[in-house]
Amino acid sequence: MQIFQDPYQIQQELRALKCAGKRIGLIPTMGNLHRGHLSLFKLARKHCDVLVGSIFVNPMQFGANEDLDKYPRTLTNDVKKLQSIKVDYLFTPTNEIIYPLGTKINTSVEVNRLTKRLCGESRPQHFKGVATVVNILFNILMPDVVVFGKKDYQQYLILSAMVKDLFLPIEIIAGEIIREDNGLAMSSRNKFLTEQEKDKAAALRQIISDCGNEICSGNKNFMQLKKQAIASLKEQSFKVDYFDICNAINLEDATANDKQILIACAAWMGQPRLLDNLEITLN
Ligand code: PAJ
Repeated sequence: MQIFQDPYQIQQELRALKCAGKRIGLIPTMGNLHRGHLSLFKLARKHCDVLVGSIFVNPMQFGANEDLDKYPRTLTNDVKKLQSIKVDYLFTPTNEIIYPLGTKINTSVEVNRLTKRLCGESRPQHFKGVATVVNILFNILMPDVVVFGKKDYQQYLILSAMVKDLFLPIEIIAGEIIREDNGLAMSSRNKFLTEQEKDKAAALRQIISDCGNEICSGNKNFMQLKKQAIASLKEQSFKVDYFDICNAINLEDATANDKQILIACAAWMGQPRLLDNLEITLN
């Protein structure tokens, strides 16, 4: 695996490969890689000739009181993991490379719809930071195909909309959520959970899937289901950011006629804010 910090050097390499007809696959990450990330690389491998990863903890997507400074940075280990699954190139830029003027950047990218609800409510600038950095990475690395995880389902929808709206010549693929043995969705932030909290955090998945089972068996009283789920989460000592039952395409509140539904939740267990979701297709 070749590792580059310099955007122009990696771009030159990738441009030569593209000119030779190779299809470039990209997985953008913030590092501290786990099996969830690695599953995206494995999926991308099936859709490209040259597999590229990026590791960049993007300051622009963190709010003032969020965990930017604490975000785990484990580059040496990450490199080993990517080498073991035969990733071809890794891009690891610095803040100064991506944001030479600081995050008061001249140009930013804002996706107008889809960004206001769910995580956008409590993190109003977050998706602007995500869309901007992902655009920058796309422009440097020129991928033909990019895989995002459904763990961050809203992020995946927003970035798919951005690619479509801006006519970027990129195919977006979604990877399934990879979980710990107890059902907890894997996340770089899980390492901030104590063993006891980790056990308790498994209830998040359970409460979402109980709600999903209710919906599948015909219960469309979404307000009631939502209330019930929030009460159960509180009982399990979660602090709830949101628990929503929405239309999986536009993220508006689900209505009784919707066929594709997303149950999405963000909740704190101790220090970390955990995210999970479930897609449901009704007949
Ligand atoms: P990060 O949190 O490192 O996640 C990188 C990718 O891995 C995202 O597409 C995310 O959805 C996916 N992922 C994380 N945990 C997963 C799991 N348990 N199962 C499947 N996929 C999982 O998301 C970001 O970084 C950043 O916002 C980024 C897109 C890199 C922009 O900075």
